[in-house]
Parts: sequence; C-alpha cells; structure tokens
Amino acid sequence: MKNLDDLLAEGVAGRRVFVRSDLNVPLDGDKITDDGRVVASLPTIKKLADAGARVIVAAHLGRPKGAPDAKFSLAPVAARLGELLGTDVVLAGDVVGDSAKAAVAGLADGQVALLENVRFDPRETSKDAGERSALADEFAALADAFVSDGFGVVHRKQASVYDVATKLPAYAGGLVLAEVEVLRQLAGEPKRPYVVALGGSKVSDKLAVIESLLPKVDKLLVGGGMCFTFLAAQGLGIGDSLLEADMIDTCKRLLEEAGDKIELPADIVIADAFSADANVQTVLAAQIYEGWKGLDIGPITVERYAEILRAAGTVFWNGPMGVFELAPFAEGTRGVAQAIVDSDAFSVVGGGDSAAAVRLLGLPEDGFSHISTGGGASLEFLEGKELPGVSVLEG
Ligand code: 3PG
Repeated sequence: MKNLDDLLAEGVAGRRVFVRSDLNVPLDGDKITDDGRVVASLPTIKKLADAGARVIVAAHLGRPKGAPDAKFSLAPVAARLGELLGTDVVLAGDVVGDSAKAAVAGLADGQVALLENVRFDPRETSKDAGERSALADEFAALADAFVSDGFGVVHRKQASVYDVATKLPAYAGGLVLAEVEVLRQLAGEPKRPYVVALGGSKVSDKLAVIESLLPKVDKLLVGGGMCFTFLAAQGLGIGDSLLEADMIDTCKRLLEEAGDKIELPADIVIADAFSADANVQTVLAAQIYEGWKGLDIGPITVERYAEILRAAGTVFWNGPMGVFELAPFAEGTRGVAQAIVDSDAFSVVGGGDSAAAVRLLGLPEDGFSHISTGGGASLEFLEGKELPGVSVLEG
C-alpha cells in the first residue's frame, strides 16, 4: 500500500491532493458534541498543507437522501477544522459543481478547501458502479492525487472512498495506516486473556462480529440495549426494555454454544421512562418490573466486568453499556471504561459511540492503547470482511 509518506517524498508543493476524511461528527443542532474525528483527521491534512499541497477535503455527514439538506451541511465541521488548523477552510457550496470547482481553483499552495457533504450527490452511495464512477471522474478532475484517510468509512464502497482511488494515484493516509495496523494486531495473536466488551442497542448489528469473535476470545461481556434480548433468551422478564424478538433464538443458540464465555448482567438500572428525571431503581436482572425499562448495567455487573477487564491481556470494547448521555445511566459505561484504563491490557476502543463516551465522560484518552475512529469499519475488519476502501489501495 503506497502511503502518505511516499506521496510527501514525491513532493506535493503546488499539487492538488484530494483527501477523503471521516468527519461524520455528532451534532446537537449546529454544535459539534464530539470533535474526535476532526481532531484525528488533522495530522494528514496538516502534513499535506505544510508541504505546500492544495488540499481538497471530502467527507460525509449523516445520511442525507442524495440531495442537499441544510441539516447535514458540513458548515460546522469546516469552521472547527479551520479553528484546529489555525487557518480559514473554504467550504464549497456543492460537491463537484461550480462552487467546488471555484473553491479548488482559488486554492493557494498550503491552503485547504472542504467540499460540501459528498452524500448530497446521489451517485456517492449508488449501487450502480457506473454512476459512482461518473462522480469519481468528477472528483478526479479536481485533483492530482488521492489520499484515503477516512478509516470510519473504508467499509463503504462509495465514490469518494473506493471509485476515486481507481482514477488517481492513491495513497493511504496516516490514520488509515495506523488503524489497520492496530486492528491487525487484534486479529492476529492477541495477548490473553482476550476480553471483548460489547454494548449498543441491537444484537442484529453485532451478530456477525459476535459469531466471528466468539471462537477467538476468552470472555465476551455483554451490555447496552442488546443485553435484554440475551436475558429474554434465558427466559427472564425484561419489562419494557429493548427487545429484538426475532433474535431470541439466535441468542439462545449462542448461549448454548458459548455460554462459558458470554457474561450477561446480573443487575440492571431500570427507569419508568427514557429520561434523565425518570424514577430510577437498581434491581437484579431477573426482577425487571413490568412497564419499566433497563437503561444501564448495575453496580454488581460493573464490578464483575471490571474484574475480568483488569486481568485482561487484550481488550476490544465497542458500544456503550447504557444510555451514557443521560447521567443516571452513565455509570455502567464509565465503570467498564475505567476498568480498561486501570488494566495493563492492550486496549482498543472501537469507534463511534464508545469513543465519544470516553471523551464525554472525561476519561483519559491516553488510558487506552488506541481509540478507533471507525465504528462499523472496525467491526467489519474484526469480522474478517474485506474493506473495499483498504483493498482498493492494496491494488
Ligand atoms: C460512521 O459513523 O461509522 C462512519 O462515518 C460511516 O457512516 P455510515 O455508517 O453512515 O456510512
């Protein structure tokens, strides 16, 4: 895989470099609530700009429906990127139209422009290779080289991730390289015990990774909304907690096949409403009241999971243990994260919500060996799936 250093060695002064970053940050209105992905994208952009490249950054935000939509504008991201770089970042008003062309034409050496959300163009995510290719041709016409640095999106076969890499000299950015290297360590010979903590709302989202990780791990700690489908599979009443009824049989099978490895919560923080000021109680997992819902793992579970995590040689954590955004339901996620920080394990936080939780709960980022920027991408890597945005760089 040719990488950023190769491109820098070739010399980029005065050349137009198209960088695909993952700047898909959580927003509250137009306020960025966690800028982790912008921060993680800076080194590649900065190295190129410092070397005199004319940097064209492309990124998506959310899942607009293939047309411009102000809610999904990258304007807040352009402002944050400019602040962090200490220079103005021009935001084009479109993806590859007149505004994008003018923004690129106006770039001086060392300057950075951001195209508007690439998903405003329906061809970006099209299943039709011809449509994607046509958009990629327009991206390629804007630039002289392509740097793939959006690790969080390399599992998507999309025009700005995959197709454009076939049209321009293509290089892996520093972030993609670093992420792939860390995940290869997990997929190789992890130091034991190898413990995986999985949360998040749906078993169905995590099923593939559970199936592929179970033979490799020593313990799988289950939390988040998905634990209730497992508890239901054990025949427990779960009140109004999140349930994927069509996954109960799958959870039963997983418990039969690997019950010795799978740890489920022994106690649960329940509430009578999905709200920070709901009535809240902590009960045993077998005693969730009718009409109440489980929103976090309880303290007995946290202590049990923490004990396992503190003794681990390798940890992979993906998905919050509870609704950490609401204070009464944050302790499960905080306790699990703190135990990982306290351990001597090689520890990887698998992107998305868990990475945001680390920062929002004020945990020390350097307490983890690696915080991935890719949620879905890191899971697909560990499932052993091919990542189109990486394999296209391998040629
Ligand atoms: C993510 O948030 O995991 C990445 O930015 C990819 O976004 P997507 O799931 O909408 O493709």
